Amino acid sequence: MCGIIGVLGTHEVAPTLVEALKRLEYRGYDSAGIATVNNGVLDRRRAVGKLVNLSDLLVHQPLAGKSGIGHTRWATHGAPTISNAHPHQAGPVAVVHNGIIENFRELREELAGHGVSFITETDTETVALLTHHYMDQGADPATAANQTLDRLEGAFALAFLFSGEDDLMIAARKGSPLAIGHGEGEMYLGSDAIALAPLTNRITYLEEGDRAVLTRTSLVVIDDEGNEVTREKRTIQLDAARIDKGGHKHFMSKEIAEQPTVIAQALGHYLSGDGAIALPEPGIDFAGVDRLTMVACGTAYYACLSAKHWFEQIARMPVDVDVASEFRYREPPLPDRTAALFVSQSGETADTLAALRFCQGKAGSILSVVNVPESSIARESDLVLPIHAGVEVGVASTKAYSCQLTVLLILALKAAQDRGVIGPDEFADHVSALRGIPSVMSEALGIADNARRMGEKISQARDVLFLGRGQMFPLALEGALKLKEISYIHAEGYASGELKHGPIALVDQNVPIVVMAPRDRLFDKTVSNMQEVMARKGKVILISDARGIEEAGEGTFGTILMPTVQEVVSPILYAVPAQLLAYYTAIAKGTDVDQPRNLAKSVTVE
Ligand code: F6R
Repeated sequence: MCGIIGVLGTHEVAPTLVEALKRLEYRGYDSAGIATVNNGVLDRRRAVGKLVNLSDLLVHQPLAGKSGIGHTRWATHGAPTISNAHPHQAGPVAVVHNGIIENFRELREELAGHGVSFITETDTETVALLTHHYMDQGADPATAANQTLDRLEGAFALAFLFSGEDDLMIAARKGSPLAIGHGEGEMYLGSDAIALAPLTNRITYLEEGDRAVLTRTSLVVIDDEGNEVTREKRTIQLDAARIDKGGHKHFMSKEIAEQPTVIAQALGHYLSGDGAIALPEPGIDFAGVDRLTMVACGTAYYACLSAKHWFEQIARMPVDVDVASEFRYREPPLPDRTAALFVSQSGETADTLAALRFCQGKAGSILSVVNVPESSIARESDLVLPIHAGVEVGVASTKAYSCQLTVLLILALKAAQDRGVIGPDEFADHVSALRGIPSVMSEALGIADNARRMGEKISQARDVLFLGRGQMFPLALEGALKLKEISYIHAEGYASGELKHGPIALVDQNVPIVVMAPRDRLFDKTVSNMQEVMARKGKVILISDARGIEEAGEGTFGTILMPTVQEVVSPILYAVPAQLLAYYTAIAKGTDVDQPRNLAKSVTVE
């Protein structure tokens, strides 16, 4: 969380910093700031709230200089105020930081002992003050930054800028990603390569523990053992147009609408013309795998819960699924021949990455399903399965979720083949169901008007329940998560059969209950649970196909008609109503759909 940017440029740098911060705003939007060095003078501007407030401030109080750093904040230590906003400055040094300095209290006490006083509540201010302290003792800027870095515990990506130094920037990476960009007589750094996309596609990723000294024409990297090292300079493909909403009012609606296209893209990468599955190198043979452990957070975790059904039912493989923040501290034993699979849109989620590192050397193989192939999770995996969703900007995940599901289903089919538990006809049926998704999903997007009407009704509610059974249960969880994160309405997802074990006490005439129930083999059971709710005056919104609605739609508060699909792919298709209901509810409530309060797209702190 928090985005950082640094530019040693040949032109005025403030507009470039702000433009790059726009690309990083998905990482946090509590406050933003920039600092520049102009003819040796270090100065900064900071503003609370969205980036636009910083842009407005810069109109009235411009900042000159050809070198600078910038930050967009997701608050960890201290409220989102101007004084807590980055860059933090102490005398001749300014610092921007992503992560958490765990020992900052000890360092503060030490500095207080030297008579240093503090003006913010942040951990980052300590970094600036400590560096200033070392400079006061005679250290040059690079040495002072190094001495400071030696003292820091926790996870961080840091960039330092110094007064009197128009051509120097120090950077460090430990636990939070940092990319260095190479321009023509310019040098950049950013939390991700996407931030640098309009500036350069020539990128060097710092490794764990690396420190870097940047000038306009040179990059020196020192590894965690103090040795100067050469890190690869790669040319990467980046979609420079990522901040384009493509005519939509919100990124979220654009990304929902893109799903048929990006799923077709993902299918094209994994299915050959004759229906064979082709995984990227080095591939995996599931004949040598006895157990699968899947770990993720949030929406990606719900994708894993759906995939558990596929791996168990189609590939007959035992599967554990866990949220990363629990898994990493439980330190579960991993039996021999266990494959560990990590699912993450960003590929940078701190808990998921830590869980992956726990499995290294223990699991037989480490697989990841990610949207960002250059991410830390991807780079530390044995086999990377990109989901090919394209850049996802909306904080609430939509197209990444359906692409994760698509790739996971393909992987389950591959596992079934490798383990010899699927016949050619069943395999071909599943492949044909997968190939059909883009077209049924385009059809499903046609529910938008109905979803808008339902969303308007849901927007009046205080609590909403989502129900699903079997492979629809994870969809109920996902529907509830989407709704709460962008509309701020309290919502819970339950397995339909669990309702009468407690949650049914919540049901009254004010509670909308969204029932996700395609007409599959568990339909009748879900409908019984739905009747129990309706008998208690709950307002049921039934989402089903034509047969389901014909059989059970009577007496409901509303229905949403979905195309009929093969049972195996219904979790992918039913992502659409889950997303659209949340979207239109948020629109009716007037909340900030793309940047909901308190959230950030990439959760790089634990
Ligand atoms: C919800 C959402 C989050 C993420 C979670 C994991 O809409 O987007 O719950 O799914 O923070 O993020 P990644 O997939 O980047 O690891």
